[in-house]
Amino acid sequence: MRTGPKRALLIGHPLGHSLSPAFQNAAFRAAGFDAEYGLADVLPENLASVVAALHADEMLGANVTVPYKQAVVPLLDDLSDDAHTLGAVNTIVNRSGRLHGLNTDVPGFAADVREHDVHVEGETVVMLGAGGAARGVAAALVGMGVARLVIANRTLERAAAIAEQYPHVAEAVSAESATMPALLVDAAMIVNATSVGLRGDDLPIATDTLAHLSPQAVVYDLIYRPTALLRAAEARGLRAIDGLGMLVQQGALAWEQWTGQAAPLDVMWEAARAARYF
Ligand code: ATR
Repeated sequence: MRTGPKRALLIGHPLGHSLSPAFQNAAFRAAGFDAEYGLADVLPENLASVVAALHADEMLGANVTVPYKQAVVPLLDDLSDDAHTLGAVNTIVNRSGRLHGLNTDVPGFAADVREHDVHVEGETVVMLGAGGAARGVAAALVGMGVARLVIANRTLERAAAIAEQYPHVAEAVSAESATMPALLVDAAMIVNATSVGLRGDDLPIATDTLAHLSPQAVVYDLIYRPTALLRAAEARGLRAIDGLGMLVQQGALAWEQWTGQAAPLDVMWEAARAARYF
């Protein structure tokens, strides 16, 4: 039997600079778990063979990121309920040769919102975006008991497709809608789940519109850098939360699935923070 280190991968394309190896490997080291987390920048034509290779004994599994969260679904042996409902997998676990797909983005986002002591139960939340990341955030927010979820997106139909899944809670509006200021007045939190701000200083919402948020409102950006949105929020005295916590929380939940141990969250946080600026 092979006794070398176990392995886990991050599968995506292009991967660029990822923080995941830094905090996943720090967690393996801290727990004395003989394993390595590495990057697999995979072209679409190689996705099936890379996933098939996860069946090997030494593979713990993988994280899956853009653009493959949906594409891996048919390549797996079974799915968790969340992954099945969302049609998206961010974590693969090799369970004795069977590949189980799950989605830790949903509980990872919820855990980070709780960690920051943000109260959303019974509140109105405005979410910008309606792509893959937004689907997970919507599921988390509805699961956390928001009273009203407003999904604002450039392409209204994509927002409507998500809102349809939560008929008594969610509604879709165009990101350009004239009702946005009125919607923001009531919001306890606004979440940026678009890719706007990933690079450069673009804003997913006009700063004039942001001015309608109440002073107690929280601005949460899934992007884990100080985006123009977060800077604009801070300039207005609002609480601004970036996506690093969600990244760490979803990673910690994946790590627990691979190892069967409680994740050393403090170690992971510290390693992620240290690796963030490069
Ligand atoms: P991800 O998996 O990261 O969520 P995605 O599924 O491609 O990526 O979704 C990207 C999101 O950012 C979408 O809500 C997209 O809006 P559309 O549905 O209208 O495409 C949004 N987005 C990307 N670029 C944008 C831009 N320049 N302006 C406004 N919204 C943008």
